[in-house]
Amino acid sequence: MSNRSKLEKFSDNLHFENVFENISFSNPQLIAGIDRIVNYKSIWKSDYFKNDNPIIMELACGRGEYCIGLSRLFPNINLIGVDIKGARIWKGASESLKQRIDRIAFVRSKIELIHHFFGIGEVDEIWITFPDPFPRPSKSNKRLVSKYFLDIYSNILKKNALVHLKTDDLNLYEFGINSILENDCFELVYKSDNIYQKELFHEALQIKTYYERMHLDKGKTIKYLQAKYIG
Ligand SMILES: C[S@@+](CC[C@H](N)C(=O)[O-])C[C@H]1O[C@@H](n2cnc3c(N)ncnc32)[C@H](O)[C@@H]1O
Repeated sequence: MSNRSKLEKFSDNLHFENVFENISFSNPQLIAGIDRIVNYKSIWKSDYFKNDNPIIMELACGRGEYCIGLSRLFPNINLIGVDIKGARIWKGASESLKQRIDRIAFVRSKIELIHHFFGIGEVDEIWITFPDPFPRPSKSNKRLVSKYFLDIYSNILKKNALVHLKTDDLNLYEFGINSILENDCFELVYKSDNIYQKELFHEALQIKTYYERMHLDKGKTIKYLQAKYIG
């Protein structure tokens, strides 16, 4: 555990070269450091990562465990973690810098705004791990696999890109399945309501986040679904 306070972490984020922040809903733009506006939309590969590797995005990334874990499993990918909580992003960003992984960037923003920062077809894959389940029906639009969010993802995903959802929450898992089945732009590829019951369907499912460990400690089963963006 770090002994940096939340305010110190926010301040660190301003000096991390791998963190970009958006602070406005009405005028979305990414800021590097204290006040440098950057626009990498459609040019993340050439101008930020400086390679032609695919871009994998971890949404609601929290401490960025999937970004770091995926970068270890697959050396030839670029990763972008998105979350609104700066103190959590700090953990992934500082760890990436410490380990000298230069293929990971973090965007502190509401996920609702990502289409402002990424171009059409720019993203090759999305991982959504243990997002808040928003159990109340009145908040179902906030679930990261609702039609509202799938439509946002459609704006940035490449054709045939995969979307992965890993969750402990049965309601969210079933909601996600229905949401994908009802959406003509996506196809359900695979689903499991207990991934550790048999051999893992995808190598990357072995990565465990902070929230996954908490749920496993409580004896919960882990659900997973994989969808394909078919356009
Ligand atoms: C339960 S935590 C899971 C974090 C991490 N994926 C894990 O498994 O440990 C959910 C995360 O989603 C983020 N989040 C929820 N809704 C969001 C939104 N609309 N935009 C950005 N971040 C969001 C929260 O800030 C929080 O860090």
